[in-house]
Amino acid sequence: MRITVFTIFPELIEAACAPSILGAAIERGLLDVRAVDPRQYTEDRHRKVDDIPFGGGAGMVMMAQPIATALDTALASEESRPRIVFLTPGGVPFHQDLARDLAREDAIFLVAGRYKGVDDRVVRAYATDEISIGDYVLSGGELPALVVIDAVMRLLPGALGDFASAEDDSIHSGLLEVPQYTRPREFRGATVPEVLLSGHHENIRRWRRRQALARTLARRPELLARAELTAEDRKLLREIEADLDAGRETEASGGTASE
Ligand code: ADE
Repeated sequence: MRITVFTIFPELIEAACAPSILGAAIERGLLDVRAVDPRQYTEDRHRKVDDIPFGGGAGMVMMAQPIATALDTALASEESRPRIVFLTPGGVPFHQDLARDLAREDAIFLVAGRYKGVDDRVVRAYATDEISIGDYVLSGGELPALVVIDAVMRLLPGALGDFASAEDDSIHSGLLEVPQYTRPREFRGATVPEVLLSGHHENIRRWRRRQALARTLARRPELLARAELTAEDRKLLREIEADLDAGRETEASGGTASE
């Protein structure tokens, strides 16, 4: 997959793409991430990329021409029209389903605006998608672009190697992640849930599923309505609800060494 990010801070994208799983995916050729600076495409000699908003107001608006020319230039070397995503707090909320959808594309353009945003005429002319990563305002679309890149990269076949799989991510099936523990078995008097030390794979699987359901019910109940639930899940949920009614703990807390 090819991802091109349009940003006046290409070094932000380049720096974040070097290390970790993302860097390894790029190294292995699963993903190619390029940053294009619209400042390279300005037509005035001061290389101006922003200007004051018509109608007044604080902040600067990114001018249409440098971004439009940068997009046209990049489009000329694409065989088919890529998805063109503008990152903006006014976009549709980013979600695992949207990541899955984007992961099927051959090429994606991500446009990271700065200041007060991008001249709307360029958004109207080019955007196939407008995405927000959450209801807060950042200084620009670069971090949101990296969030999208990371979430999409994890879904590319082979990106996570043999040891992990995106299907194991429980949010992938619509539930929250389960609590995890590693050595030592005891830390500051807190122990690890016994079942995880038992080596009994079926009991562990069932415990984890129950934890994912209990956590989701407690923290994000609205996710349960959309999750893909099996007959076993529904049974576990009834047990969890019975525990809640009886005032019993439903989420893991491990234990204490003195128990
Ligand atoms: N640009 C600034 N804030 C943003 C957000 N929350 N999501 C996407 N793009 C943004």
